[in-house]
Amino acid sequence: MEQREIDRLGRSVSAIGLGTWQLGADWGDVDGDSAVAVLQAAADGGVTFFDTADVYGDGRSEQTIGRFLREGGADGITVATKMGRRAQPHESEQYTLENFRAWTDRSRANLGVDRLDLVQLHCPPTPVFSTDAVYDRLDALVDEGAIAAYGVSVETRAEALEAIARPGVSSVQIILNMMRMGPLEEVLPAAREAGVGIIVRVPLASGLLSGRYDENTTFAPNDHRTFNRDGQAFDVGETFAGVPFATGLEAVRRLVPLAPAGATMAQFALRWVIDQPGVSTVIPGARSPEQAKANAAAADLEPLSADVLAAVEEVYRDVVAPEVAGRW
Ligand SMILES: NC(=O)c1ccc[n+]([C@@H]2O[C@H](COP(=O)([O-])OP(=O)(O)OC[C@H]3O[C@@H](n4cnc5c(N)ncnc54)[C@H](OP(=O)(O)O)[C@@H]3O)[C@@H](O)[C@H]2O)c1
Repeated sequence: MEQREIDRLGRSVSAIGLGTWQLGADWGDVDGDSAVAVLQAAADGGVTFFDTADVYGDGRSEQTIGRFLREGGADGITVATKMGRRAQPHESEQYTLENFRAWTDRSRANLGVDRLDLVQLHCPPTPVFSTDAVYDRLDALVDEGAIAAYGVSVETRAEALEAIARPGVSSVQIILNMMRMGPLEEVLPAAREAGVGIIVRVPLASGLLSGRYDENTTFAPNDHRTFNRDGQAFDVGETFAGVPFATGLEAVRRLVPLAPAGATMAQFALRWVIDQPGVSTVIPGARSPEQAKANAAAADLEPLSADVLAAVEEVYRDVVAPEVAGRW
């Protein structure tokens, strides 16, 4: 597996990582043993970067990773967690040093580590991005040894650029996929220039880009693909990348024939992400060991040709861009 250096993190991470929201909650049910098997399959495939959050299953995702690390699952794994969303209400006033200490203490206990490798603010309220004191508090956590580094998970391109401009920020997590191309223009070049890692989430548009869904596909009631279709629970852009389901299906039908021989649609979509200059790692969410293994193998595909990249962009421009109209 190709490893990519993140300058500001002082570490290398696998080009294909693993997202572990699925191992916590909100994606139907995944039991504890299956969750550990997903982590093992990813590590066996060369994945060295796991993304989690303190709120995924209220700590269940972190605890599963902790169990995996304790049981000696693999060496050299970087675990990135997130904090902020435990705040009720989720407002910028909650981003205090006291709360930061409490949240990181809980994540350290869940993961069973003294120091967290990377903590990302979990899509914080917009005012947080311009608050100097928040970055000072994060620097204090580094000085105290609770965390090795910090980053930010963002919703918008403007937020990404604001975070990249902060010298202490090591990474920015953002949505990028064949149906979400906005970050290619300014965000990725700026991150590259600054040595900030780009962690790409929702690379499969919540599974739409696997090419397995059709007009009759349904999801479990406790799956956000049922309950957040219109942004009822959190930002609508997090579910199917904010693309209306029927539009997504139409785009995928045009993308499938472009996939390289021997690659699945999901692998093609992941290869597309890691072929974008500036991407450090992509974190597909896997619900089974088979998915985790197949996703890791996408790094073995040849980089996509200029013709294929242009054809993918044409589908985006024709089908998706008119629907998302500058939003993303
Ligand atoms: N605010 C934030 O910071 C934030 C928000 C969202 C996500 N994330 C992170 O990003 C990670 C990835 O995003 P995501 O999980 O939302 O979306 P995603 O990776 O775009 O989609 C995940 C879904 O894709 C399908 N899939 C995965 N691998 C597959 C394969 N090999 N073949 C066929 N289908 C496959 C599965 O769908 P089925 O269920 O149909 O099998 C899976 O549930 C999360 O786990 C989380 O760590 C962070």
